[in-house]
Amino acid sequence: MTLSAEWRCVASELAPGASAKFRLARGARAVDAFVVHVDGGYHAYVNCCPHVGTPLDLWPNEFFAEDGRTLVCATHGAIYEPDTGRCIGGPCVGDRLERLDVRREGDTIVVTWPG
Ligand code: FES
Repeated sequence: MTLSAEWRCVASELAPGASAKFRLARGARAVDAFVVHVDGGYHAYVNCCPHVGTPLDLWPNEFFAEDGRTLVCATHGAIYEPDTGRCIGGPCVGDRLERLDVRREGDTIVVTWPG
């Protein structure tokens, strides 16, 4: 499979409270990424915690904290706002996840790694 800087999925496959993982590439660089569907919006980020740089999900595709709303890094427990990627609790308060562009084309969610 050829990687690209764009990932697509059918919106109905990403239920409210759900997330999905994927990989994006631009030139020789590639990143792991994820998208979440929360409060009617879709938000996507590079899957890399700004604290130490590990992926957020120790268990694959587990990004939500126990409250089902905020995002959590499984390594040391940093808590992130799902709509902004801003860390609001834990060891890197004020840092942000790297945001990816998300747009909707009809029934399709399109995530793009900005170049
Ligand atoms: S690596 Fe995410 S909180 Fe430490």
